[in-house]
Amino acid sequence: MVMQSDLMASSDAGIWTDAEPLVCCSVVPEAPNTATFSFVPSSEAQFRYEPGQFLTLELPVPGGTVWKTYTISSSPSRPMTISVTVKAQPGSIGTRWMLDHLKPGMQIKATGPAGIFALPRKENKKYLFISAGSGITPSLAMTTYLFDRGTNIDVTFVHCAQRPQDIISRQRLEQMASRVPSIRLFFIVEEDDPYRVWTGLRGRLNQLTIGLIAGDYLERDVYCCGPEPFMDAVREMLIALGCDMERYHQESFGAPVKKDDQLPEHDDIVPDKDVVASIAFAGSDVIAECNETDTVLAVARNAGIVIPSGCTFGVCGTCKVRKIAGDVHMVHNGGISEDDIEDGYILACCSKPIGAVELDV
Ligand code: FES
Repeated sequence: MVMQSDLMASSDAGIWTDAEPLVCCSVVPEAPNTATFSFVPSSEAQFRYEPGQFLTLELPVPGGTVWKTYTISSSPSRPMTISVTVKAQPGSIGTRWMLDHLKPGMQIKATGPAGIFALPRKENKKYLFISAGSGITPSLAMTTYLFDRGTNIDVTFVHCAQRPQDIISRQRLEQMASRVPSIRLFFIVEEDDPYRVWTGLRGRLNQLTIGLIAGDYLERDVYCCGPEPFMDAVREMLIALGCDMERYHQESFGAPVKKDDQLPEHDDIVPDKDVVASIAFAGSDVIAECNETDTVLAVARNAGIVIPSGCTFGVCGTCKVRKIAGDVHMVHNGGISEDDIEDGYILACCSKPIGAVELDV
């Protein structure tokens, strides 16, 4: 089957880049305090990304700009729009602003798409998607992508929510599952909605439940997303069940914890805290002195120069800037592509200057 995205990519339309603002084209309420925001480019460009990747949105909240990272809930097989589904938690500023103020027709800046928690496009595997709360969004994108691909679909989709009314995009999932028998949906809730019948599962996901609803879990590649304690519990459960954890993938906007043997080896120059370096911010006409162990982002902040940032550990790609001259020591976590690196881009949050560096900022 020919993918819509392949068809589109072969047309004359360009591919959207984050230099171009997004225009909000729809806002759809999904659940309490939760909505899906869809965007189109202001040009004829189309979106290209991997199912499971994220976007960082620049949100003009009162008091200053904030950058928030959201998993893309749409599928790259539908490349004319891109969507994020967001849930405002108590105390949230950026997401609350989106729910209260972002309307169709408004423009917004975004960075990305980025992220390594993504479904390999060409692989035909059996999948077990496990999610909780708003962590449903990557599973939603991946399932939509597989549904659109049309062949070799084998998905067991398990989602945990507080109540049935909190299940995000339930109708969209049921619509896909009703047309493709090899997409099996399981919703587990902790409480019923008052005065509404619930015939699905209740309680919490555990070894017994997973054995009942996905008895062949040992044969499946697992993708898990949700709050950190939920993902930790799922991980421990799967280890106890004897799953091959090489086939376990977990979304995280927290800094990846790496063991010594997983750290990259560098044969290039290692930053020395006693060696002086300098960064020239060409667009701002500022030259800042620093040490080789300072990050470019920290030096910029100290010099009063704003470089947008999100995760601050090389995952989200928000702080990507172009290097004009000099060398940096960059240790990222997947937030920048090899193509961008070849084109001279660096991530400011995880790059340290070696000697004199000049940036296009
Ligand atoms: S702030 Fe996320 S990669 Fe730098």
